[in-house]
Amino acid sequence: MAYETVVGRTRDELEKFGTSSSGFIGKHIVGTGEDAHLTTPVLIDLMKPHVILISGKRGSGKSYSAGAVLEEILKLEPEVGEKVAAVVFDPVGIYWSMKIPNEQQKDLLNEWSLKPRGFQNLKVYVPAELKKSYEEAGVPVDYALSLSPREFSPDDWILAFNLEKTSEFAVALEKNLSELLANEQDFTIEDISTKIRDDTFSSQHVKNVLISFLEVAKSWGIFSQKGLNLSEIVKPNQVSVIDLSRVHGEEWGVRNLLATWITRQVYRERVIARKEEELAKVEGSEKKEKIFPLTWLIFEEAHNFVPSDRKTVSTDSVLTIAKQGREPGVSLVVITQMPNKVHQDVLSQTDIVISFRLTSRDDLQALHAVMQTYVAEELQKYINDLPRWPGAAIILDDNLEKIFTVNIRPRLSWHSGGTAAII
Ligand SMILES: Nc1ncnc2c1ncn2[C@@H]1O[C@H](COP(=O)(O)OP(=O)(O)OP(=O)(O)O)[C@@H](O)[C@H]1O
Ligand SMILES: [Mg+2]
Repeated sequence: MAYETVVGRTRDELEKFGTSSSGFIGKHIVGTGEDAHLTTPVLIDLMKPHVILISGKRGSGKSYSAGAVLEEILKLEPEVGEKVAAVVFDPVGIYWSMKIPNEQQKDLLNEWSLKPRGFQNLKVYVPAELKKSYEEAGVPVDYALSLSPREFSPDDWILAFNLEKTSEFAVALEKNLSELLANEQDFTIEDISTKIRDDTFSSQHVKNVLISFLEVAKSWGIFSQKGLNLSEIVKPNQVSVIDLSRVHGEEWGVRNLLATWITRQVYRERVIARKEEELAKVEGSEKKEKIFPLTWLIFEEAHNFVPSDRKTVSTDSVLTIAKQGREPGVSLVVITQMPNKVHQDVLSQTDIVISFRLTSRDDLQALHAVMQTYVAEELQKYINDLPRWPGAAIILDDNLEKIFTVNIRPRLSWHSGGTAAII
């Protein structure tokens, strides 16, 4: 068969729309072992919202292939591209290099009749106060990211600091923050500390602990009295990389806080936009000039944003997208080495799985939970039979109700996530 497969598009949709608004991500692999060879192109649907899981062992090609999908979003024809945006939550700090052409795999690209290309519509956002440290490390920073502490509820802070909700610390934090929030004025982290210091009801111990938490929050470098607006971060025809790799220490609190704020706002904006789009349809009136773009949210190391075994400050907002993102048009891409460690509700909403080699039983079981159409043994066999070359993956597609083997295409843009080596 000489036809392309469009992953994520039903047969009816394929008949109606053909391959428009889709992106080239690889080729089918036919045969196993020595006989394995590449055949027809595999495309991915970029027209409607999806929940995509990209899984596989360390160094198997997850980030590389997520980059290939992002390239296709950036390459959409202008009429479509201007209605689409993407945000990558990048705790590892690898996506910035998509600005640079992939000269290092020029020969491989040539074999695929492709050429190296950098993407200028990919913009890098870093915590405002850490901007200098990124620049010194050679990261091409486009924007300084800052948020107002006002944007977060007491519950957000309690989760970000990993406090027990009923503890005396959480109670004191909640009381003081609620008072600040009740006041219309913007405030800084220092204002929260001052408020707590002046609190006559809390013990000195509670105050000291909370103030030290707030000192840590300040060192995250993302808070300022007046933060950015969402429209400064999510823009049509742009991939916004939120590079959180240089945040001090193992600070998932700040990564999750940032993710929750952007995710929540994107959802809200799209719900409003969807209503306007519907209204325009019903009334036959002109659509508003500037409608908030259909947005793709990409989570690297997703098991830290929506873990299966505990609640983080970003859990609820990401789950909302997984469960209710379809209607307003928000897509989710979760990338993880351990699908088993990603929240069950994300897995159950997944409609496309791209999986590289996985060895743990629990992780295979998690994939099986996504698509029960296939018996676990069959899934295991597909994964075991994958050729051992980079980029070989299985795709499970709930829209087509199909499983097949694919080789993800080489990247046009530079991938900086390769194995570190001493040379
Ligand atoms: N489709 C592909 N074509 C060619 N090379 C590839 C392909 N996919 C991956 N590679 C190679 O494999 C390397 C590792 O890939 P990648 O960084 O995506 O791994 P990963 O699964 O994200 O690993 P980790 O879990 O450690 O983040 C890449 O630097 C690249 O050299
Ligand atoms: Mg990776």
